[in-house]
Amino acid sequence: MYSALSLLTLAPAFAATILLPREGAGPTINFGNNTGTPKHLASGILYGLPDNQQQIPSALLDGFGFNYGRAAGAQVGGGWCYGQAPYEQRFASALSNYQLTRAHGGSFVLMLHDLWGFDTTQNSSCAGPGDNGDWASYDKFLNAVIADINKYKMQSNLIIDIWNESDNAPFWGRSIDQWLAMWGRGYYRLRAAYNSGTVQLSGPTTAGQPNFNNDWFTSWASYVKKNNSIPDQYVWHEESGDSSSMSSSYDGLVAILKQNKLPLKTVNINEYAVFDEQVPAGSAFWISQLERYNAIGIRGNWLGGTQLHDLAASLLSKPNPNEYASTGYFPNGDYQVYRYYSQNMTGNRVGTSVSVDGKFDAYATVGGRFAKVLMGVRPPTTGTYTVTLNNLTALGLAASGNLNVQTWKFPVGNDVHYSEVDGPTDLGNIGHSYSGNTLSLPYFQTDRTTTYAWEFAVGK
Ligand SMILES: *[C@@H]1O[C@H](CO)[C@@H](O)[C@H](O)[C@H]1NC(C)=O
Ligand SMILES: *[C@@H]1O[C@H](CO)[C@@H](O)[C@H](O)[C@H]1NC(C)=O
Ligand SMILES: *[C@@H]1O[C@H](CO)[C@@H](O)[C@H](O)[C@H]1NC(C)=O
Ligand SMILES: *[C@@H]1O[C@H](CO)[C@@H](O)[C@H](O)[C@H]1NC(C)=O
Ligand SMILES: *[C@@H]1O[C@H](CO)[C@@H](O)[C@H](O)[C@H]1NC(C)=O
Ligand SMILES: *[C@@H]1O[C@H](CO)[C@@H](O)[C@H](O)[C@H]1NC(C)=O
Repeated sequence: MYSALSLLTLAPAFAATILLPREGAGPTINFGNNTGTPKHLASGILYGLPDNQQQIPSALLDGFGFNYGRAAGAQVGGGWCYGQAPYEQRFASALSNYQLTRAHGGSFVLMLHDLWGFDTTQNSSCAGPGDNGDWASYDKFLNAVIADINKYKMQSNLIIDIWNESDNAPFWGRSIDQWLAMWGRGYYRLRAAYNSGTVQLSGPTTAGQPNFNNDWFTSWASYVKKNNSIPDQYVWHEESGDSSSMSSSYDGLVAILKQNKLPLKTVNINEYAVFDEQVPAGSAFWISQLERYNAIGIRGNWLGGTQLHDLAASLLSKPNPNEYASTGYFPNGDYQVYRYYSQNMTGNRVGTSVSVDGKFDAYATVGGRFAKVLMGVRPPTTGTYTVTLNNLTALGLAASGNLNVQTWKFPVGNDVHYSEVDGPTDLGNIGHSYSGNTLSLPYFQTDRTTTYAWEFAVGK
């Protein structure tokens, strides 16, 4: 917890010249590389919204930049495979979440697997689409979903996720071939109802990341090429902890697309971050990773019971978090990172690079006369890194001189995901001398949760 403070109290005079432990070359920020207007792409949430649309104060949802939802009534009722009424219960929950997302100007991913009933609670009386070669129920299901979307006028900003994590047995538990047959069938039925200018389609939505060893992803890619059923968004999940990163996944995607002569399209990581990463350090890390690839990001949701449909995917809490209908919502420490990211980091983005070890990333913007750098070390990593601020003259600053850098600390409370935190802590301004158009500063990560941002005034 003394990380940035010790830097501020001990190191400032030497920051530009001090020899740091060689643990890590950290991110480099290139202020000469304008990468466009921020759209706070990483502010989506999986579930997290109560069916009562008035329950969470609107300002608390806007405050973290809420702009993408993904839901379909999981764990409510039973879903299509048990009959019409259990399906309607799920659809009603999905519709409410859609309406609330749209009220905040967001887009919404509707998941067919949950409407069907495959949310891992399914039992033996819940048959899968195409079991024993019988597609009649699936075809009727698609007709029902399309009829309801039309009836409730849900076409705008709607994305349909054809199936969640078929490569993860509890959500599918059948062969690749049966999944692909469902894909082709579903895709063509939905496309006949909606062209991609209205409702979009997304997939393959695998738990595993794209690479040539992932049979689900590679089989899917060659199938959609042959079957001509390419979705509008490519989707996979980043919930594998340390074993994956956006750069390796994205490179894997590009290689698979190339091999199959498929076009590049919008990427939507519609579940990202494991629970231990849903803290200021991990969120800042993921924001940086996603923004670099212009990928939409939807936070995974690790809560169960009614908390799944509440608490904004662990950005909010309340005095009685297990009482679904109770109120008194407040933000947690992680929320404050998203607030800063979406409300304060305005202007334009600039290019950054990830640390050499891949565990420390940064997201930076320039606007409103300030440059802002939000940094995040991927939990559970700790250590010391050097952050390099390059091309300072692109900000109208001199090639050498003194730069006053302000530090914001983003902590969590005692109960990491449930304690109230109302804002970052201002650790003050420190002057650093620099030359050669560049300033290198040490960054100390001593715990698994806290993160920091730096701000300084630009010269124009
Ligand atoms: C400065 O920015 C330009 C344009 O993005 C880039 O070509 C150059 O490599 C940058 N210099 C440094 C030291 O990052
Ligand atoms: C399966 O679950 C459904 C819905 O909850 C229930 O109605 C049905 O009795 C269950 N069937 C079996 C075999 O457990
Ligand atoms: C999709 O699959 C993942 C991995 O099993 C799971 O954690 C997640 O809850 C699923 N999403 C939904 C919305 O069911
Ligand atoms: C794609 O697959 C679906 C489902 O099997 C089939 O109905 C459709 O004709 C296929 N289209 C092409 C172009 O192969
Ligand atoms: C972020 O912006 C808001 C609104 O302008 C402002 O009230 C708040 O103090 C800013 N927070 C930080 C950390 O700069
Ligand atoms: C600018 O940033 C983008 C996005 O991170 C990166 O792809 C590109 O290589 C960068 N260009 C330079 C000159 O640094």
